[in-house]
Amino acid sequence: MVNTTIKTTKSQEIFTAAQNLMPGGVSSPVRAFKSVGGQPIVFDRVNGAYIWDVDCNKYIDYVGTWGPAICGHAHPEVISALHAALEKGTSFGAPSVLENVLAEMVIDAVPSIEMVRFVNSGTEACMAVLRLMRAFTNREKIIKFEGCYHGHADMFLVKAGSGVATLGLPDSPGVPKSATSSTLTAPYNDLEAVKALFEENRDQIAGVILEPVVGNAGFIPPDAGFLEGLRELTHEHGALLVFDEVMTGFRIAYGGAQEKFGITPDLTTMGKVIGGGLPVGAYGGRRDIMSMIAPAGPVYQAGTLSGNPLAMTAGIKTLELLQKPGTYEQLERITKKLADGLLKVAQETGHAACGSHISAMFGLFFTSGPVHNYEDAKKSDTTKFGRFHRGMLERGIYLAPSQFEAGFTSLAHTDEDIEQTLAAAKDVLSSL
Ligand SMILES: Cc1ncc(COP(=O)(O)O)c(C=O)c1O
Repeated sequence: MVNTTIKTTKSQEIFTAAQNLMPGGVSSPVRAFKSVGGQPIVFDRVNGAYIWDVDCNKYIDYVGTWGPAICGHAHPEVISALHAALEKGTSFGAPSVLENVLAEMVIDAVPSIEMVRFVNSGTEACMAVLRLMRAFTNREKIIKFEGCYHGHADMFLVKAGSGVATLGLPDSPGVPKSATSSTLTAPYNDLEAVKALFEENRDQIAGVILEPVVGNAGFIPPDAGFLEGLRELTHEHGALLVFDEVMTGFRIAYGGAQEKFGITPDLTTMGKVIGGGLPVGAYGGRRDIMSMIAPAGPVYQAGTLSGNPLAMTAGIKTLELLQKPGTYEQLERITKKLADGLLKVAQETGHAACGSHISAMFGLFFTSGPVHNYEDAKKSDTTKFGRFHRGMLERGIYLAPSQFEAGFTSLAHTDEDIEQTLAAAKDVLSSL
């Protein structure tokens, strides 16, 4: 019998104090566990596939700091490269050869990227790419998909309304209607809806931006032909295709989802893995488009800490580790074992569930599915997910605290970790 009582006294004390100091007690909303209930645990340290909280409980981690930790947390080679880089200073605010090295690695790896600009987060990358899309095409409207997240910039904070497709309305107070009035939304995997938007807005659409594999509405892969269809439609209408690979870049494959699916967008945004756990984002693409960015061209975008030497160092070392033979085969094997195992356990214990994985990204929905888009994902039993999440946490398994987040594995996860996770899932799901 698994011991399900964990002591979280220190976590509770710290989180209670945090709530007086920071809105919701956190620096980013999902960490507060609002969508699963209960209090979050407060981390003390991370290493490999594991987390230790401030009460000394150990957890197998499937969040991986929301994606960057694909080699495992605090990989010794990343840490030692960072130690060496630290000796040379923490920030230059001037060109460094480290930027060239990481830029070359990204350009070599990602099919669409001929030139790249480094920024500090995925949000920044997406904001900048939107300005560039509009400048290059001299058009204002963009199409995004319901359930896709592109950071928290005003123009992307749009909830799609019901129906086939709708004009964007702001998702958050403080976002002016004018900021989202050019953001059109369509259901994911619905080419007809995109076609209709292009017809209704002829010569006005700058481009289409999407997560080529969705991770922000739970894990939703593209249907066969969807990415190809978007490539054709954007070509036909003189619009740009932008893959937001902040989550999928160097995770779905070394060259991202665009390599995996063989569809080359015009522009790509990145983040997470390319910073190896330090704050980084990037955007890149066709040379003719990227040449519009200042100071090469007139489209302004800048950053005090952009190209930061520590972040570049962690990114370079992380990509070097990922280049080793067999890396992606191992990620696929371990993730398949986990994703197939979770689905089997859910079904054996009598729960309606569906789920899948690609490479080191996976998901499990508490609905019989299939899930092709956010509307389908919302049919999940989120109350059940909350109880599942808490039960897993009590058994030393740290899952993303929302039904609408993908899970992440790493090179550090072992077969024993997966087996322990599946045993915990069986125990929890048998009692729900
Ligand atoms: C696909 C995608 N785009 C953009 C972002 C925003 O990145 P950041 O949180 O680094 O600003 C995220 C964050 O999770 C993301 O998953």
